[in-house]
Amino acid sequence: MSSESLDSLKKAAAFRAVEFIRDGMVVGLGTGTTAKHMIIALGDKVRSGMKLRGVPTSTETAALATQAGIPLIDSENRWEIDVAIDGADQVDPDFNLIKGGGGALLKEKIVAASAKQFIVMVDYTKQASVLGGSFPLPIEVIPFGWGGTARKIEALTGSRVVLRERNGVPLKTENCHFIVDVHIDRLDQPGELETALNLIPGVVETGLFVGRTHVLIIGTPQGVRTLHVPRK
Ligand code: 5RP
Repeated sequence: MSSESLDSLKKAAAFRAVEFIRDGMVVGLGTGTTAKHMIIALGDKVRSGMKLRGVPTSTETAALATQAGIPLIDSENRWEIDVAIDGADQVDPDFNLIKGGGGALLKEKIVAASAKQFIVMVDYTKQASVLGGSFPLPIEVIPFGWGGTARKIEALTGSRVVLRERNGVPLKTENCHFIVDVHIDRLDQPGELETALNLIPGVVETGLFVGRTHVLIIGTPQGVRTLHVPRK
């Protein structure tokens, strides 16, 4: 499928996601190409008179939201987020995710964890029977001693760890950290791995979002599917 066609599936999923938004809500705004469609659609709602406030997960998203006319909440205040909406890089049959392809995983996870409801939008190609394989797991790490942190991640996972670079230099996140991408074939126990990775000194956060999704919206060539995740 062409990238234009995939983008139209992302757009359809994003349009379905904004149907969950009600007047007066505080909305966590994800980052990425799918989130961009959602922000534009939310901007239309604001222009039609809906009162919303947004919590952006990146400076890119903050700029898009401002352009779309969505008022933003000061991130250093106490917040109550009603709904967070974001894209993902992979989703498994238990609705667990890999995120962080765009490097915004830390703020995305803080916002998802703070929201009463977390809505995830994907095109159908992001579905995987098991996480890993085609998409490496991003992990945000402290630059100080990152090589030692990477070795510990390698020892834990038995997988290759690659420092993410841009133009030949380490990519710095908005939070002034590095990202390493872990090339794991199969992530059979994502919950256990997330816990173990977070215990390594130097790891700030992982791109594993386990047990966080409330609603999964999938854009497919046959139409949009909305799945409500059963809570345990
Ligand atoms: C950014 C993310 C994105 O949600 C993820 O990469 C999906 O991006 P897109 O909607 O562009 O496919 O996790 O850190």
